[in-house]
Amino acid sequence: MKGEDSKMEETCRCAEDQERLARVGEIIDQFRTLPGALIPVLHEIQDLYGYLPEEALQVVSRELEMPMAEIYGVATFYSFFSLEPKGEHVIHVCMGTACYIKGAQGVLDRLSQELDVPVQGTTADGKFTLEATRCLGACGLAPVMTIGEKVHGRLTPGEIPKILKQMRTPVETH
Ligand code: FES
Repeated sequence: MKGEDSKMEETCRCAEDQERLARVGEIIDQFRTLPGALIPVLHEIQDLYGYLPEEALQVVSRELEMPMAEIYGVATFYSFFSLEPKGEHVIHVCMGTACYIKGAQGVLDRLSQELDVPVQGTTADGKFTLEATRCLGACGLAPVMTIGEKVHGRLTPGEIPKILKQMRTPVETH
């Protein structure tokens, strides 16, 4: 039975992959006549997958007649593109001046220690990706981090374990 389950799972995943690759083709068609089509195409692909997987970049290379080296050059030049899958929750710790002065490094170090990942790393369970970022525009709340859409301000390293615990605990609905 277990074998059948995993076979079914594989079939589903395969169908999902095919669907997403078909969507990549549509994205390319949408932008291919624009000058500088590569950047918007990469943006859309990243929105679709959460990162830029090689199989999708192969399609871009073929369809836009662009060498893979050139595509990787662009994808690695801009920090908003990622070639690695991200975790379910992406944590951005602001390292802008105001946050830095108010102790952002300590917050970042504590997160790295608690999650057991380096900065830009993703936890083994795929739950969290830890990133350092520029000013998030909330300097009055320094030091600041965001987890997804949620903003956490005036942080101290000591608060980190509690925040992570809350993120790991499923919300009960009654
Ligand atoms: S410096 Fe951190 S929010 Fe502006």
